[in-house]
Amino acid sequence: MTPAQIRDYLKYYRDLGIETVYRAAPPPVLPTPVLPQIVPQGDTLTKIREDIGDCKRCRLCEGRNKIVFGAGNETSPLVFVGEGPGADEDEQGLPFVGRAGQLLTQMIENTAAKEGIPLKRSDVYICNVVKCRPPENRTPQPDEMEICGQFLFRQLMTIKPKAICVLGATAMKALLNTKEGITKSRGQWHKWRDVPVMITYHPSYLLRQYNAQAKREAWEDLKTLLHFVYD
Ligand code: URA
Repeated sequence: MTPAQIRDYLKYYRDLGIETVYRAAPPPVLPTPVLPQIVPQGDTLTKIREDIGDCKRCRLCEGRNKIVFGAGNETSPLVFVGEGPGADEDEQGLPFVGRAGQLLTQMIENTAAKEGIPLKRSDVYICNVVKCRPPENRTPQPDEMEICGQFLFRQLMTIKPKAICVLGATAMKALLNTKEGITKSRGQWHKWRDVPVMITYHPSYLLRQYNAQAKREAWEDLKTLLHFVYD
């Protein structure tokens, strides 16, 4: 790689909000159009999972049982992004399988059914910003999000969904450059690169705060999202 190509490569990741690139640059292929060289070539979810390996890139590896990569339909037009695994997810290696996950399943399937959209949870893809459970379910720290974020970005670039649903403030911070809080940003369309992003409350928040208003709003957000993706 020439210095100019290295500069482009680093700029590409910096624009995504990643300050440190942990992965070796892909080998140059000649002739070399700039973009294909910057984006990891021929990326697949399997390759991304292999690159994560038995990850020790940040402190979250110390307490985890299983890495929770993501699950669902790998060609889905819709991807949900949560914060990070909880205890049940850490035990099973699958995202959103605990109480919050059950609520997420209901939110997806009940909203779809009510709107006449034939959609099951298994039809969408679900993943998280960080792939290892933070101790005591604390919020992931900025360096953990940055290190793991590159894998999330690669997942999204590989799946290329028609829309992304961001669940809660952590995923919002990871994908969007908004300073507004979740209450203000939810229900509105944003963009991650060229992909439309709908922001809504995290299901854990809806479980914690018994708040009929927030639940109604989350259902409204999903309705807007599902019609956009599936109509
Ligand atoms: N909360 C998340 O953000 N992700 C999960 O996978 C489970 C709970």
